Amino acid sequence: MTISSMFSQPLHFKSCYNVHFFYIFTTMAFYCSQTSSQPPNIHILSLVSVLIFFLPLSAESLSFQITSFDANSTNIVYEGDAVPFNGDIRLNRVDYVSRVGRATHIEHVRVWDPSTRHLTDFTTNFSFVIDTQGKSEGNYGHGIVFFLAPVDSEIPPNSYGGCLGLLNTTSLLSPSKNNILGVEFDSFSNPEWDPPGEHVGFIVNSLSSSQYMSWNATLHSLDVANAQVSYEASTQKLNLLLTYKNSPSSYNVSLDVDLRSILPEWVKIGFSTATGINTEIHRVLSWDFSSNLEGKEQIEANNTTNKETNTELIRKNDGGSKLLIGLAITLGVLGAVLAILLFWAFSVWKIWKKKPEGKGTHPPTQKFLPRSAPNLVHGNP
Ligand SMILES: *[C@@H]1O[C@H](CO)[C@@H](O)[C@H](O)[C@H]1NC(C)=O
Ligand SMILES: *[C@@H]1O[C@H](CO)[C@@H](O)[C@H](O)[C@H]1NC(C)=O
Ligand SMILES: *[C@@H]1O[C@H](CO)[C@@H](O)[C@H](O)[C@H]1NC(C)=O
Ligand SMILES: *[C@@H]1O[C@H](CO)[C@@H](O)[C@H](O)[C@H]1NC(C)=O
Ligand SMILES: *[C@@H]1O[C@H](CO)[C@@H](O)[C@H](O)[C@H]1NC(C)=O
Repeated sequence: MTISSMFSQPLHFKSCYNVHFFYIFTTMAFYCSQTSSQPPNIHILSLVSVLIFFLPLSAESLSFQITSFDANSTNIVYEGDAVPFNGDIRLNRVDYVSRVGRATHIEHVRVWDPSTRHLTDFTTNFSFVIDTQGKSEGNYGHGIVFFLAPVDSEIPPNSYGGCLGLLNTTSLLSPSKNNILGVEFDSFSNPEWDPPGEHVGFIVNSLSSSQYMSWNATLHSLDVANAQVSYEASTQKLNLLLTYKNSPSSYNVSLDVDLRSILPEWVKIGFSTATGINTEIHRVLSWDFSSNLEGKEQIEANNTTNKETNTELIRKNDGGSKLLIGLAITLGVLGAVLAILLFWAFSVWKIWKKKPEGKGTHPPTQKFLPRSAPNLVHGNP
């Protein structure tokens, strides 16, 4: 068992980076206050523990927060009509009919671990706006979906309109072959598969809602919708809570679902919209996500290495940007390690330099006494 595999399972930090930086910070602070009186062994111990602490960086759960969708940022993959626009995602255009757009996060989520069958918990919050453009019910559509799907999922051909960019008439016929879970905000009721009226709820491998509540897109047109979708592994409950900025209405739907029976180990997450003859504008304004099941994505097993490193899976290089992220993290980590090494070398040198001065002649501790506070002038206009 390698050290990193020892660390990869039990640690469930929401954000490992914060923990690492906090640790580095406290260690640095420790150096600053202790360098003149501690034997060098302590420094070596701290150094080693810092290095060990870096190892879990290789197995992270996914967590992100996006308050603005920057046109130059590479964290979102845009498909179809979807584009970043003035800090929002504009998912589809309305100057043509039958449009589809998707925006997904570049990093994938580990939903469950096939070896232990552990499931992840996750929580995601997103805000979005639907603009029905003053049209009456039945004359706008078709809605927006937050979805989880296999990592190779792309917009299927002919998935416009009520298919919401997720399925098409071929895949609709074989739900058992689909691996898709969606939280739908469906503004057009397709009599072929939908319940009567506009609705919010869940779709599982098909377009018929598994659980839903009636909803009214006209009533909330242009209002900012705040949705929270959470999954609790222990109860296997998926919850949706939808509230609005300028309306007291709230919608609360939940579904009992074992994600292992629907989704593969790794999924992509994001938003999908579609229009048909009837159109409407869909925008996503912000999005955060956090899950807690760690692991590395297996894309290619390197057969030239031994079995142990073969299980150290290689993360997918998604169109170059992931490589850049990985490179940045690696450089950051190397930089931090180098800084600590320098710091350590410096403090050891300081002690070594002090030794010949004799014992019990440490300089007085007054160097840590605060300077007298400056006289504060209380500003009176
Ligand atoms: C994106 O990059 C272009 C050119 O590299 C720059 O002109 C533009 O200001 C950037 N936009 C943002 C929002 O940073
Ligand atoms: C539906 O999408 C699949 C690929 O996902 C494609 O093979 C199939 O031809 C599509 N069906 C139609 C009717 O376009
Ligand atoms: C939806 O809300 C609009 C505006 O308040 C209202 O005119 C319409 O009757 C509502 N539709 C339904 C089905 O309740
Ligand atoms: C939503 O419903 C679930 C179960 O139906 C309940 O546990 C939860 O407290 C509700 N949340 C809100 C904010 O009403
Ligand atoms: C790598 O090993 C797996 C099984 O261990 C095997 O199925 C696969 O063909 C091998 N790939 C190459 C490129 O040798």
